[in-house]
Amino acid sequence: MIEELPLQDEKIPVSKGLSLHAAHERFVSPLHQLVLSNRHWLQHSLNWPQFVGGEDDTRQNLLSNRMLHQRGYAKVFMIVQGDDVVGVLSFNAIEPLNKTGYIGYWLDEAHQGQGIITRCLQAFMHYYAQQGEVRRFVIKCRVENERSNQVALRNGFLLEGCLKQAEFLNGHYHDQNIYARIIDEVLE
Ligand SMILES: CC(C)(COP(=O)(O)OP(=O)(O)OC[C@H]1O[C@@H](n2cnc3c(N)ncnc32)[C@H](O)[C@@H]1OP(=O)(O)O)[C@@H](O)C(=O)NCCC(=O)NCCS
Repeated sequence: MIEELPLQDEKIPVSKGLSLHAAHERFVSPLHQLVLSNRHWLQHSLNWPQFVGGEDDTRQNLLSNRMLHQRGYAKVFMIVQGDDVVGVLSFNAIEPLNKTGYIGYWLDEAHQGQGIITRCLQAFMHYYAQQGEVRRFVIKCRVENERSNQVALRNGFLLEGCLKQAEFLNGHYHDQNIYARIIDEVLE
């Protein structure tokens, strides 16, 4: 359960009961609990969960992401369903000149298979495309990460190529697919 949100916080509505909320200290506890309960499972696809110790690690991570978010070099949003944080959707990096954003996401294991990431991703991309901040959206994922490849394909991304041994995970370098989608819809 999270506290009530002040109005000035950046929020992207997705659908009834589902929204994206910019990284903020108020999410430290729920996010940390979510990471802990998904840590072993997430470690199959992401390298960082093994390094998360106490709640202070999550706080430091969230606060540095908030700073990058405010400066426009990254964007990190909590996926909030009802009153619960159920995942994270982000631009891990933004190249402002190229208007290119590198997307990352993860979900609570029990919340997979409901289209949550797909619906959030659609709202997220159109939000930044309309603002004119990002026009090239990129997803890079391990070739073996079937669910993440499906997210890219389900959301209209095109496979541009395969990056050889580009992702270090659990002691090995894995090939990565690179997908992109261009959305040009700047409001006049
Ligand atoms: C990658 C990950 C976010 C995908 O989650 P997901 O729930 O499969 O993704 P989506 O939101 O696109 O949901 C699609 C599923 O919901 C179903 N669905 C239900 N309603 C839907 C809707 N309105 N729209 C789309 N799909 C819907 C689809 O049929 C599909 O189910 P299936 O996989 O059983 O066929 C999740 O597996 C995850 O967190 N993995 C670990 C971390 C990770 O790998 N991150 C990416 C690193 S590159």
